[in-house]
Amino acid sequence: FPIGEFSRRILNWYENNKRPLPWREDKDPYRIWVSEIMLQQTQVDTVKPYFENFMNKFPTPEALAEAEEAQVMKAWEGLGYYSRARNLQSAVKEVVQDYGGEIPKSPENFASLKGVGPYTKGAVMSIAYDLEEPAVDGNVMRVLARVLLIGDDIGKQRTRRQVEDDVRMLMAGTSPADFNQALMELGALVCTPKNPDCDACPVKNTCRAYQRSMVHALPVKAKK
Ligand code: ADE
Repeated sequence: FPIGEFSRRILNWYENNKRPLPWREDKDPYRIWVSEIMLQQTQVDTVKPYFENFMNKFPTPEALAEAEEAQVMKAWEGLGYYSRARNLQSAVKEVVQDYGGEIPKSPENFASLKGVGPYTKGAVMSIAYDLEEPAVDGNVMRVLARVLLIGDDIGKQRTRRQVEDDVRMLMAGTSPADFNQALMELGALVCTPKNPDCDACPVKNTCRAYQRSMVHALPVKAKK
């Protein structure tokens, strides 16, 4: 697989096609963390106004740590999955108490916080701190399953770990912040679940599923 060509093409595409999103305006790890928690079960367009409002009300880890839980819940109202908000506030309190309000720059320490799973760890550590950590969500699974022709059930833990290893290999020597976001953005804008726009894809010439006309058949998701 032509790793260098793939990375070059997707990074160049991202540079020219990335959406201007409120959480892409800076590299503040707290802002990126909040955005990634909101984005986990909620669409980008829904998240935008909630994110802006949340950041105005709770602009820093200290502000969120000190807020009344009811105020936090009110700011989250309509987003759903409210345990996300409760876990986030607990985790931020821990950051203020144990790390002086600085989001840990160690993936292990960050991942030990409440509500921080493998995806959140990878997304925040790579986007905010440019650490070489994979951030594999549904979009990234789909892109990699197609590009690398991975026919295993994407619901399986083992498949996710394999994809994480693949991402680690592909991102080596690039900017992990841009590389992870490029994969997410390609999955959101081009390599979509239905009717992917392969004509517009910057990496179609390196995509094993495209070469075999298998794009529509991937990823494989076993019925529960
Ligand atoms: N989905 C999850 N994380 C995202 C991000 N940082 N930008 C756009 N969509 C996302």
